[in-house]
Amino acid sequence: MEVQSVSTTPFDDQRPGTSGLRKKVRVLRQRHYLENFVQSVFDSIGDFRGRTLVVGGDGRYYNRQAIQTILKMAAANGFGKVLVGQGGILSTPAASCVIRKHQAHGGLILSASHNPGGPDEDFGIKYNIANGGPAPEAVTEKIFSRTRTIDRYLTVAADDVPLDVIGACALGEMQVEVIDPVADYAELMQSLFDFDAIRRLLADGFRMKFDAMHAVTGPYARVIIEGMLGAPQGTVMHGEPKEDFAGGHPDPNLTYAKDLVDIMFGEQAVDFGAASDGDGDRNMILGRNFFVTPSDSLAILAANAEQVPGYRDGIAGIARSMPTSAAADRVAAALGLDCYETPTGWKFFGNLMDAGKVTLCGEESFGTGSDHVREKDGLWAVLFWLNILAVRKQSVATIVREHWQRFGRNYYSRHDYEGVDADAAAAVLQRVRDQFGTLPGQQLAGRTVQHCDDFAYTDPVDGSVSENQGVRILFADGSRIIFRLSGTGTSGATIRLYLESYEPDVQKQGQDAQQALADMIAAADAISGLRELTGRDRPTVIT
Ligand code: G1P
Ligand code: ZN
Repeated sequence: MEVQSVSTTPFDDQRPGTSGLRKKVRVLRQRHYLENFVQSVFDSIGDFRGRTLVVGGDGRYYNRQAIQTILKMAAANGFGKVLVGQGGILSTPAASCVIRKHQAHGGLILSASHNPGGPDEDFGIKYNIANGGPAPEAVTEKIFSRTRTIDRYLTVAADDVPLDVIGACALGEMQVEVIDPVADYAELMQSLFDFDAIRRLLADGFRMKFDAMHAVTGPYARVIIEGMLGAPQGTVMHGEPKEDFAGGHPDPNLTYAKDLVDIMFGEQAVDFGAASDGDGDRNMILGRNFFVTPSDSLAILAANAEQVPGYRDGIAGIARSMPTSAAADRVAAALGLDCYETPTGWKFFGNLMDAGKVTLCGEESFGTGSDHVREKDGLWAVLFWLNILAVRKQSVATIVREHWQRFGRNYYSRHDYEGVDADAAAAVLQRVRDQFGTLPGQQLAGRTVQHCDDFAYTDPVDGSVSENQGVRILFADGSRIIFRLSGTGTSGATIRLYLESYEPDVQKQGQDAQQALADMIAAADAISGLRELTGRDRPTVIT
């Protein structure tokens, strides 16, 4: 089979972040666009001749076509083998698992995470390196600069590879192996969690619902939760991956996972509810009539880790993103563990895990994970919770309340102002910055301001410095007000306001979070002029 060199022209594109390229399908479909990006990746990742590449995606619209393009280009560029998930499916954490287990050179993951899918919606592609994690900035910078000079890409003229049947075939000199997308991942989960205990829990009548949101975790949850763990059929909701996620927004939060939320807060509520996003790396945890904030979830997993086989020997440390509540810090302090506060974004955790400094990590934005892979992992978090529930034999709400009793409660909320004028958004943060000199020592919302800054982070492993990662007002009692601009929003600017107040008194831990934070919310507005400057009288989304 002959390698064809197709001449092309550099493409003017936005700088891909570490999360790769995320575009409207119609943009990616332009002539040579995907090919240019893929070739730019192949030209930037070192010598892979004869080595293995992992390919798979969340099953959204354009997944299959993109995979065929990638397979032919991988063959022409000299990869020895491609492992591709059956039907083109691999969740993001499963792709990370497969890369690591098969010692691949890296992998191409096709997904736009929790963004909607379909011909008029989003598609994405990112490259993960041999440790299973997203390519570091040095690599994405190389890829980006290659996109500005690229003048040819390599491909082979060949028929499409059948993706639906497990097995191997040849594509030119390269081997394509269609693998079971679930098997390696399920085996890893089984090595971490006490499946027997969870099976007994479910056999004893404990009932749960898992909402796959018509996205990639459906097949994983069916095999693991309904198959291996024996939960009744129907436990997995919306388990059939659809190219357009059935028109939904596959983001596991209280707004978008509405069907699950309606069940868990209604008369049919079951003991445990959970959901995951488009590509399977986010998670939401619910009890009967009870929402567990992702920040609390991380802290609770850490505090109970020794109940779980994979973490029985202890965890090395915990990392959380800066806006994530400090609940995990209190657990780390009690257990004598190091706790790292990183900027928002998963990439900062990878260095800490590779260096053996942390085992568990998480973000307030429904992302939790550990060093078993190098991505956040939705189903892993669900199984971790199930393992804890099986051991403790208490309800989700009781486990959370007992946690607050022991460590104190970090009341927490995030207010998002989406599609705000970019200048107005910048002005909001600047107004707070302008008061950095005068705020410390003042009383605000009944608390003393201790310190204000723009969060900066020096990576303890490679020494790299990340500045301007959020404007912070820190209080003497551990409460915090944080303003940050989203790095992932698509139209205009998104202001995220994060509010946290610490409550050690058990008698005062039972309030609604918005109520408990009302003074802080008012103070945040007064100081920043948020409503006045943006012309908004309320947030777009409250979590
Ligand atoms: C958001 C979340 C962040 C997460 C990222 C990618 O980024 O806040 O925690 O890592 O999506 O899933 P943001 O839009 O805030 O920059
Ligand atoms: Zn995702």
